[in-house]
Amino acid sequence: GAGSDGPYEGMRFDIVKPNTEDALITSKGYDQKVVIRWGDPVIPGAPEFDFDNQTPEAQAAQFGFNNDFAGLIPIADQPGHSYLVVNQEYTTEQFMFRGYVEKKPTEQQARIAMAAHGITVLEVEESDRDGSLTPVIGSRNRRITAGTPFRLTGPAARTDLVKTSEDPTGTVILGTIANCSGGITPWGTMLSGEENYNNYFSNAGKVTDKTAAKHLERYGFEDDADYHQWGQFEPRFDLAKTPNEANRFGYVVEVDPADPKSTPLKHSALGRLKHEAATVHVVKDGPAAGTVVVYTGDDERFEYIYKFVSSRKIKEGDKRHNMGILAEGTLYVASFSSDKPITVDGAAGSGTWHKLMTVAPDGTATSHIKGMTAAEVAVFTREAADKVGATKMDRPEDIEPHPVTGKVYAVLTNNSKRGVDGKPGVDATNPRNENKNGQILEITDDHAGESLTWDLLLVCGDPKEADTYYGGFDKSKVSPISCPDNVAFDSHGNLWISTDGNALESNDGLFAVALDGDRRGETKQFLTVPRGAETCGPIIQDKRVIVCVQHPGEEDDHSADNPASHWPDGGSSQPRPSVVSVWRSGGGAIGV
Ligand code: FEO
Ligand code: CA
Ligand code: CA
Ligand code: CA
Repeated sequence: GAGSDGPYEGMRFDIVKPNTEDALITSKGYDQKVVIRWGDPVIPGAPEFDFDNQTPEAQAAQFGFNNDFAGLIPIADQPGHSYLVVNQEYTTEQFMFRGYVEKKPTEQQARIAMAAHGITVLEVEESDRDGSLTPVIGSRNRRITAGTPFRLTGPAARTDLVKTSEDPTGTVILGTIANCSGGITPWGTMLSGEENYNNYFSNAGKVTDKTAAKHLERYGFEDDADYHQWGQFEPRFDLAKTPNEANRFGYVVEVDPADPKSTPLKHSALGRLKHEAATVHVVKDGPAAGTVVVYTGDDERFEYIYKFVSSRKIKEGDKRHNMGILAEGTLYVASFSSDKPITVDGAAGSGTWHKLMTVAPDGTATSHIKGMTAAEVAVFTREAADKVGATKMDRPEDIEPHPVTGKVYAVLTNNSKRGVDGKPGVDATNPRNENKNGQILEITDDHAGESLTWDLLLVCGDPKEADTYYGGFDKSKVSPISCPDNVAFDSHGNLWISTDGNALESNDGLFAVALDGDRRGETKQFLTVPRGAETCGPIIQDKRVIVCVQHPGEEDDHSADNPASHWPDGGSSQPRPSVVSVWRSGGGAIGV
């Protein structure tokens, strides 16, 4: 181990160098094991995975495709057992079916894809011997798919904006799709962000009503974006037939894993956007103590950062009360400024949260936007945010409050269009045009209030380049990081970052970053994932690191007929998105 002047606890591991291996490479002296792969049984009675004979019924009982967020929620009264909750974000049909013709699914293929989306709740058991986790295939498990009923809460519920012929009440929505990252609440539920849901709807071009067409355009609905073509088989995904169905996706959803029969929720009080994630901070002191603050970003170029401040306070042990918290509160959007010249090196400034709408504890909803009702703010949140001068960011991905310091880390993954073709140019928080590598914004927030200060912790990219910044740490001693996406914290207070889309010609991976003291900005790579994959869903426990390996082998000019990866099963096998557990060989804490 390193001496007291070496890396901080949690970061005392050998770095993994950039590479392009078709393997998950961990730091030296660590072991790994797949927890679950696409197609593995989840529900009792589910068949074993059979790539060439997949069915919608089998898929609905098996682990879905393209795992993104992962969380672990301990099971009460059963030490060593947890609910592993995982998002299954999207499908790439060309990697799921041999001979697939782009945008031309058979009905069977489309229905397999629908069943491969959503969320999995899986009971896992910790090993006594090592850091592996073993699935328990029993009655606690659940698959939520593109067809599972949800209940809509908040100002959008029961309004004409969300009513359809199948749901004249405007409260029951079938399915969750495009679930990217998420969060775990203090009351033991999972939050999940519906992100690129515009890629599932056909015939946007046939919507002739000018107002409806304008709303669809603001959210990126266009016929070219419909990769999945579900509208051929389910009219609700055909905007020419069911235009309001578009307004029923784009929410933060909440799932109670402890009640597999419960109806999951979609919370419109947190707004409708391309939610990457939703993470919770509970105010500890002062008159606002017990107020729940949820941070969420809209992952598209030039979109915004939001927060929700609850009207209710948390009641410990009262899950029924707490599961109503996200239905009532105030939604804000952020703007950032600085007195300094734009720089990557030591950038800092202040900011303001702008009120968009409020739901009072009695359920009354008020809009703070002239010309928009509260329901309109809840459904067309981007348009409300456009009106208050929010700052257009470089693709907000995960945003997460530090469990000890309360500082909020907002990941801005990249923005190739910044300063290009008449698009907005640089600003203090987004300091590079044609931003290929992304940056991490560190926010000191008045959580329940309206002001903040900020600085840039990392301006990512090749540390040899002048336009990068690693928290002031010696750049000759860091692992290069590019395209940060998800963040988590270890118990020592270090930030861990997973990447997606590494622009430095190496595979994606997982990094630890020191936040304080002399070593602030020290960045060390702990693992890399196989070719074509992104790293996501990191969970950093004292004795275990869990990562989701999403879309292994997803490279141009490859398909199930010509796989670019054979991970995790090797040989000539098809690649399978999987969750992996990593631990220290022979036991011991991670990075200590
Ligand atoms: Fe699904 Fe924003 O990544
Ligand atoms: Ca992401
Ligand atoms: Ca996270
Ligand atoms: Ca991403």
